[in-house]
Amino acid sequence: MSGTATIEDAVAVLRRGGLVAFPTETVYGLGCDAENVEALHRLYAVKRRPTDHPVIVHLPCASALSEWAHDVSPSASKLADACWPGPLTLVVERAARVPDAVTGGRDTVGLRVPAHPTALELLAAFDGGIAAPSANRFGRVSPTSAADVRLDLGDDVDVILDDAGCDVGVESTIVDCSFEVPAVLRLGGVPVEELEAILGTAVTLRTDGTVAAPGALAAHYAPIAEVVVVESDAAAARAALLVAEGWRVGVLAPAPVPSDLPAEAVVLDPPADVDEYARVLYSRLRDADRRALDVLLTVPPESMGIGAAIGDRLARAARGTRG
Ligand code: TXA
Ligand code: MG
Repeated sequence: MSGTATIEDAVAVLRRGGLVAFPTETVYGLGCDAENVEALHRLYAVKRRPTDHPVIVHLPCASALSEWAHDVSPSASKLADACWPGPLTLVVERAARVPDAVTGGRDTVGLRVPAHPTALELLAAFDGGIAAPSANRFGRVSPTSAADVRLDLGDDVDVILDDAGCDVGVESTIVDCSFEVPAVLRLGGVPVEELEAILGTAVTLRTDGTVAAPGALAAHYAPIAEVVVVESDAAAARAALLVAEGWRVGVLAPAPVPSDLPAEAVVLDPPADVDEYARVLYSRLRDADRRALDVLLTVPPESMGIGAAIGDRLARAARGTRG
């Protein structure tokens, strides 16, 4: 079965070990029953993801945390209470029910309650954990629409729940709570400033890829077009240079777009504010490929709040270009 479907269809597919793409408030997830090892193997195969890279288990409500975590630290409880449902993944010691296939053999598991009505409805109806990475092939741009999922995964996914509402637009923030001091492994939908306000202490950043987490690898989130990160006041000169060299150049910048861009440069619809920038980021990166651009010049927003996650994704896309 492919195409759009109902929650009941999706639950039936999960129960028989199939794969369901579903919207979350961050990006689309490619889900399977988190306790079905065969289904997990198929999930990794479809993602083309190395099996030692762990996936996140999505839960229907915060009270399920204690069923999936072995030991819930005070900081994990605080963050879960304050942020769930929401774009935050907590890495905690895993409970016995969590298979090795979810964690890549680690003793910890990433858990999150998504804040999207369709995802929550699916989770409640399934009444279990749904293991779900983003619904793209490994290393590529995450999908924020059902159409993008279909384009990437085609018939490899059994059911796609088609709904709008990836309103955050970048993936969840991942916080490792398995140590004394919580550490951010991936910047995302919940800003670091907010985490620190909730915890009442500073958190450390470990987003350098020393942990085997694909979202933290230097080369990730890349479109086919070469992504170049520039400051706003350098964009016009850089664009002119690239155009003169014969490249098809695009520009992604927050409004107001840099002035004096060469007429040949394709200016992608500029986001009005930082939240919109996060929401449209991945669809703009995909636009660059749809328009067959060679180079996409990107101007990052100010690096605060969710702007830090946008800057992180742009930097990784720039390093990960495989044109
Ligand atoms: O917003 C999101 O988090 C989306 C939606 C679908 O929920 N999911 C997502 O999944 O981005 P994925 O697989 O693309 O990224 C999950 C990240 C990976 O970097 C993975 O390594 C990390 O979470 N992760 C999962 N479990 C972990 C663990 N036990 N320790 C360290 N990192 C972990
Ligand atoms: Mg991903």
